[in-house]
Amino acid sequence: MAQDRFGRHIHYLRVSLTDKCNLRCVYCMKEDMVFQPSSALMQDDELITLIRVFAELGFDKYRLTGGEPTIRPHVVDIVREMNQIPGVDKITMTTNGVLLPELARPLHDAGLQRVNISIDTLDPVKFKKITRWGTLDTVWNGILAAEEAGMTPIKLNAVVVRGFNDSDDVINLAALTLDHDWQMRYIEMMPFGDVAGFQQAQVVTDAEIRATIESEFGPLELLDDGKLDGEARLYRIRGAKGAIGLISSVTHPFCASCTRARLTAEGVLRLCLLRDKEVDLLTPLRAGATVADLKQIILDGVWHKPWGHGLARDVIPVSRVMSQIGG
Ligand code: 5AD
Ligand code: SF4
Repeated sequence: MAQDRFGRHIHYLRVSLTDKCNLRCVYCMKEDMVFQPSSALMQDDELITLIRVFAELGFDKYRLTGGEPTIRPHVVDIVREMNQIPGVDKITMTTNGVLLPELARPLHDAGLQRVNISIDTLDPVKFKKITRWGTLDTVWNGILAAEEAGMTPIKLNAVVVRGFNDSDDVINLAALTLDHDWQMRYIEMMPFGDVAGFQQAQVVTDAEIRATIESEFGPLELLDDGKLDGEARLYRIRGAKGAIGLISSVTHPFCASCTRARLTAEGVLRLCLLRDKEVDLLTPLRAGATVADLKQIILDGVWHKPWGHGLARDVIPVSRVMSQIGG
């Protein structure tokens, strides 16, 4: 079992399958982003070897991320192989949804239980402005494909960016929960590396997002007594089928209940999304480290997991942007 100095039991691994993406969201990366050569990334066998080690250490929950995980070659085979590893209990994915019309069913058949799909607005023009390269229709079809394939409950993510999608968009997205049993989650934008200036200038707080929703639908009802669902606090619009989630990573960090670590596509263990502390696993693996060696490196790394982020004191992670870490 992997435990940190603060007594937190770490058993949830977010695994980035690639740093590349088929979109260029403004809150995530610059349009001229440069990616890693594929040889610098974990190859399929290396990835599976590392997951086996994590599973033996008690990591039971896995979320595949990117960049965009669905553009990784052999993604369906990777899911299938992961799903067969003893100790791997639950595999989910965070995706932009673009490729789900083709991939939802094969991924679900291979063992992917659920997806979180990013959709920041229902306005096609703004959708293009935020994602730079995306079209709303494709993602909408991806959401429907995921639902049809049985990957429920559907969770949708919107990063709220001032001046892009901070008013009508928030309301129209919330309205989706009236008729759909979906969870619409709003994420406070977090600052990373060379995009931090933009992110800090345009961040919208959970209080403001909530006020915008309530201005249209009236007071939101708190669900589960405010207990977090992953990182989201859940609410419901009166009479709605689905739920609203607020992810207040910046203003109300949930570090105390953190159970997670991240494995970047380059095979580096990142202990906290918003702290630069990392431990390389791929280099020792390529240099012939044994399973026992790798376990020790992981346990030591987890032990030194930072308590939490320092955004309130303006400590911003600089070594990577979101797509290079995995959401
Ligand atoms: N702050 C918060 N969330 C972000 N995401 C990407 N960049 C940021 C950021 N700067 C979200 C995406 C997706 C998930 C991978 O992380 O919208 O839902
Ligand atoms: Fe791609 Fe996701 Fe980043 Fe958008 S947020 S550019 S979809 S990795």
